[in-house]
Amino acid sequence: MQAFRSAILYFKPHGQPGESAIFETDGLLVVGPNARGTQVVLDVGPWHALRARFPELPVQHLKDRILAPGFVDLHSHYPQTNVIGSPASGLLPWLENYTFPEEKRFAAHDYCAQAARFFVAELLRNGVTTALTFATSHPASVQALFAEARQQRLRLITGLCLMDRHAPPELLNQSPGSGGTDATEQSLIDSEALIRQWHGVDRLGYAITPRFAPTCSAAQLRGAGELAAKYPDVWIQSHVAENKDEITWARRLFPASRSYLATYADFGLLRRRAVYAHCIHFDDDDRALLRDSGAAAAVSPTSNLFLGSGFFDYAGADRVGFQYGLASDVGGGTSFSPFHTMLAAYYVAREGQTKTGLSLSPQHLWWQHTAGAAQALGLAGVVGNLLPGCEADFVVINPQATPLLARKTALAGSLDELLFSMLVLGDDRLIEKTVIAQQMAPATS
Ligand code: GUN
Ligand code: ZN
Repeated sequence: MQAFRSAILYFKPHGQPGESAIFETDGLLVVGPNARGTQVVLDVGPWHALRARFPELPVQHLKDRILAPGFVDLHSHYPQTNVIGSPASGLLPWLENYTFPEEKRFAAHDYCAQAARFFVAELLRNGVTTALTFATSHPASVQALFAEARQQRLRLITGLCLMDRHAPPELLNQSPGSGGTDATEQSLIDSEALIRQWHGVDRLGYAITPRFAPTCSAAQLRGAGELAAKYPDVWIQSHVAENKDEITWARRLFPASRSYLATYADFGLLRRRAVYAHCIHFDDDDRALLRDSGAAAAVSPTSNLFLGSGFFDYAGADRVGFQYGLASDVGGGTSFSPFHTMLAAYYVAREGQTKTGLSLSPQHLWWQHTAGAAQALGLAGVVGNLLPGCEADFVVINPQATPLLARKTALAGSLDELLFSMLVLGDDRLIEKTVIAQQMAPATS
């Protein structure tokens, strides 16, 4: 067991997201192995109330620091680190001119391995301890990322990118060349083999990953939906309703579906543990479809601002009531830092505020990148929080990390003011340390 005395930020289990934060100015966090040997939170609360329960336990005193849950990034692309900041008039030219050429390089195993190493290190440096991310259409890219995440004990979910049309030939899923299996069939065989190899190993999970409807044939989407039914605990990830030209294209390819989002539902790809990036250009029928299916939206504000895709409608999401959380969407997104993402989400909600009066509190933004994102993944009570039983993933925040942060956080007169100071001024320099739940000998009682 280990104990840490510090200021501690975490969230009530069932609170309203906008006011669910708990902040102990002088708290105690006790961690130790659960019955399976994973290090989890055993207790959390005020120092003065908890100290007597653990009289023998040595306590590490982290003075002037704040412990907070590790961040959960609901959507990114590990092969797109080098694509960050590539300008284009919109999504489709950006894919063609920058993203697809970079993803072609993942045909080489060594390229995958170094990219995976950099990506995982960058997540950890920024305080992200759980990530749902795309790989490329090369099985080697998935293998490299799972291997690296396992070594670093990151909670990571990824999968083979399914795309069997409308992309450069080198990026389409490949057939083995002999034996009569076509590329579409092979992509589904490869996905299932990867599920069996990796899903549930240590802290890893598999996501069935159709890139988006325009690059998948009906046969591939149907096969992906069949896999999703066969493996209900496996995740699904894709993109939807990000960009007007993309939507026109998807509607032309699948005219029988009521909407772009409904296309995925028609192929059995909308269910709990399905996470759809963007979800910008929705009507209320789409919102209700997402809500009723139990699927979730990955809100990616830096990407949507950078690529000019549009503004996520927070008021619409809350009015209809579907699940959502925050995501970097690197490399359409411009930063690995959850602070940058939360600030961009604040700007986006402010834009909507002129129409609806809605603005997001810093507690709500922080929740969206931790406990809220975990809930969207179906991992509430497992990650994204520091309640007893949660895996012991946390960040040590130094609110004096820069002269301006020190000056500003010292003036904070309320929790919202403190969180706002960090959210507006923060980046990787705020994250002094990222602590990942270790695997230990199981608890004996
Ligand atoms: N839609 C299909 N592929 C992508 C991608 O790589 N990034 C983004 N932002 N949208 C996509
Ligand atoms: Zn994306």
